Amino acid sequence: MYLAAQKRYDDMQYRYVGSSGLKVSSIALGFWHNFGDVDALSNQRDIVHTAFDNGITYFDLANNYGPPAGSAETNFGRILHEDFTAYRDEMVIASKAGYYMWPGPYGEWGSKKNIIASCNQSLKRLGLDYVDIFYHHRPDPNTPLEETAQALDLLVRQGKALYIGISNYSAEQTAAIAKIFKQLGTPFVIHQARYNMLDRWVEDGLLDTLKDLGKGMVAFSPLAQGRLTDRYLHGIPKDSRASRSSSPFLDKDKVEPTIKIATRLNELAQSRNQSLAEMALAWDLKNEVVASVIVGASRSSQLEDNLKSLVKMDFSTDELAEIDKILNHE
Ligand SMILES: NC(=O)c1ccc[n+]([C@@H]2O[C@H](COP(=O)([O-])OP(=O)(O)OC[C@H]3O[C@@H](n4cnc5c(N)ncnc54)[C@H](OP(=O)(O)O)[C@@H]3O)[C@@H](O)[C@H]2O)c1
Repeated sequence: MYLAAQKRYDDMQYRYVGSSGLKVSSIALGFWHNFGDVDALSNQRDIVHTAFDNGITYFDLANNYGPPAGSAETNFGRILHEDFTAYRDEMVIASKAGYYMWPGPYGEWGSKKNIIASCNQSLKRLGLDYVDIFYHHRPDPNTPLEETAQALDLLVRQGKALYIGISNYSAEQTAAIAKIFKQLGTPFVIHQARYNMLDRWVEDGLLDTLKDLGKGMVAFSPLAQGRLTDRYLHGIPKDSRASRSSSPFLDKDKVEPTIKIATRLNELAQSRNQSLAEMALAWDLKNEVVASVIVGASRSSQLEDNLKSLVKMDFSTDELAEIDKILNHE
């Protein structure tokens, strides 16, 4: 029987999500990769135990995570029910709808038909009555924002979600849907966006918009899928995400152009007595709007390394300038 570590809350930081009353662990665990039916359940369980034992309270899922799609929710649901029933109220569990999930006109995007059905399916796979955060996974250019917002609002009124989030919305789209949520009285609190040293698009308006609105952001792929770690400094390992055919979003062509930058960043991280992964996470978390970084991990040792980022979070002005120089290839 799993018994959580007694000291699990000692070293983690918890941050409020915007001006809401919800706190999340500043490091969160993501289930996009490594939790499908193609992955060993024993390793999944080990990663989830390591996360919870070290104070991670935020677990980030989506309908389509796997492969096959849906299996990450099923596997996490199984681990939850076998090991975590006593700890459910210590966990923030999130899921999402919006990307392709089932055939026909209702299996993706942002209609009320898709969002309600998808959330019901997710709850069934997870074996839960409610999720803590439900996200619209991507903006839908063909559905009125009002309809998407009303569907998400309904999930809260039905008790199927406590808080609402959006993901991959631009600053303008965020401001527009926030206005509708405000009229509806929806607890929209969070935006999930890609943010790492190699992809800084959120600095171009979104972070300011969220700050003005009193909303929080969680950063996904904070390690650029592994490119901001020591994973690829000496080539592409066979067991890495870039080599796995079940991970089509990272390959040799995306890794190779970043190795030089990663090597220089790694040297800077070493001068700070950190690994590159630790420095990359601390760099994301220096912005007060960022409530949490959602990391992925293929083994629990990676997670343990990432947790060490909390030991040294501050950067000198010179270090930040040096990082910018490296990122600008200077
Ligand atoms: N909302 C969205 O549209 C969206 C999109 C993408 C992701 N997300 C969320 O964000 C989560 C994280 O995304 P991500 O998996 O791309 O995050 P990431 O943290 O940038 O990358 C994780 C990968 O980096 C490698 N890694 C992690 N820690 C390491 C360490 N200490 N040393 C060496 N390598 C390390 C591992 O790769 P190997 O597998 O090679 O070991 C791991 O699978 C997802 O699970 C999901 O919940 C959301």
